[in-house]
Amino acid sequence: MDEPRVIIPREKIQRKVEELAAEIRRDYLSKNPLLVGALKGSFVFMSDLVRSLDMPLEIDFVKMSSYGASTQTSGSVRIRHGLGTPVRNRHVLVVEDIIDSGLTLRHLLDYLDRRKPLTVRVCTLFDKPSGRRVEVPIHYAGFTVPGRFVVGYGLDCGERFRYLPDLCVLEEQN
Ligand code: IMP
Ligand code: MG
Repeated sequence: MDEPRVIIPREKIQRKVEELAAEIRRDYLSKNPLLVGALKGSFVFMSDLVRSLDMPLEIDFVKMSSYGASTQTSGSVRIRHGLGTPVRNRHVLVVEDIIDSGLTLRHLLDYLDRRKPLTVRVCTLFDKPSGRRVEVPIHYAGFTVPGRFVVGYGLDCGERFRYLPDLCVLEEQN
């Protein structure tokens, strides 16, 4: 059985979310940005972030697939559920839980670019730079995490552990 071990406690995550929100608020106040979350992993971060932002904005979500039940990216990304909101001439902020290889984000940025937004920036709570396979822009980043699979705060391993309030790594238990 894999046992979760806390590496970033909830209080630290909450503080970081508030710091990120303060920065984003400064840059987007009165621009009515469209925050685009990548499901499912970003749903917890998105809900904490918008409440910390506490300013006029809109949200939408896209659902992409690449991992399936595995902990390694399959390398091919598909949009399974696209945006319902028009993005033309909008200020778009992508909200990601974690960026690893960068392949999912690259695919999402290309998808958004084709729809002619005014600006696109990226906010991710966790960044795993050791896994990067393609270069991607990150404008607002929370924590750099080691090259291990992490769970909790919305992130899963085969749909397990999303509910954990802290960020954890999985440890082998006998
Ligand atoms: P990428 O395409 O390799 O950058 O992976 C992006 C997506 O894969 C993230 O938005 C997550 O949903 C998922 N992912 C990547 N690394 C992890 C991890 O360590 N734990 C849980 N999900 C992950
Ligand atoms: Mg994600």
